Amino acid sequence: MRTPLVAGNWKMNMTVEAARSLVYAMSASLRDIRGVEMVLCPPFTALLAVQALLEGSDIGLGAQNMHWQEKGAFTGEVSPSMVRELCRYVILGHSERRSLFGETDETANRRARAAEKADLTPIFCVGETLQEYESGRTSEVVGRQIRLGLAGLQPASAPRIVVAYEPVWAIGTGRASSAKAANDVVGQVIRPALGGLFGMEVAQAIRVLYGGSVTSANAGEYFACKEIDGALVGGASLKPDEFVAITRHAAGTQSASG
Ligand code: PGA
Repeated sequence: MRTPLVAGNWKMNMTVEAARSLVYAMSASLRDIRGVEMVLCPPFTALLAVQALLEGSDIGLGAQNMHWQEKGAFTGEVSPSMVRELCRYVILGHSERRSLFGETDETANRRARAAEKADLTPIFCVGETLQEYESGRTSEVVGRQIRLGLAGLQPASAPRIVVAYEPVWAIGTGRASSAKAANDVVGQVIRPALGGLFGMEVAQAIRVLYGGSVTSANAGEYFACKEIDGALVGGASLKPDEFVAITRHAAGTQSASG
């Protein structure tokens, strides 16, 4: 049994004050939800403030990126131990990092290894672009992103990895993937690739989320899928009622399936 996980990726939104208001607006409702692992990923500048508000709750905190080096002359970067001081999770290899900031499979892999070393849970993002999707290359691209991005991690620590399958063409576009298509990519490409790296038993324990225009209206369809274990939510995570409703959907599937 994989515990469902719902993570909110706030991206480059929310000043400290706005972040506090957003957490106030949803934390009481989130605290009442059982059986779902919840993670909020504010920008670096709001991590400390949000951490203070989440203290004593089961709601986890994540960063949106980090560098792989421990310290040194890397102006503008944040190290694994800096993230670990405040967070248990870190989003890695997000498609916006890949497409806008030169992230590659190799650099995503360095970050994933650094997360393992720092005892952080990576939310490791993969997904094909529209062009790759339209030319029928989804399996090839997503399989490669998993194999290269998570290479070298230890099978013993692999069960904690969280993968997010986010088709790039579905992110922020309102054009979500169908639940069946997403479920097929996870079941036929991502889990077998994880199995190749860590063995099938470990692969079965790894949570795989769907991301890309998830809303309270479509979340239930993803959570009903056998291979999909939750969601990485962008735009809708900035709307308290939406994020709470999405998380409740995940709790519903949990109790329905025992
Ligand atoms: P979206 O973003 O929900 O706004 O499509 C998802 C993501 O980028 O993680």
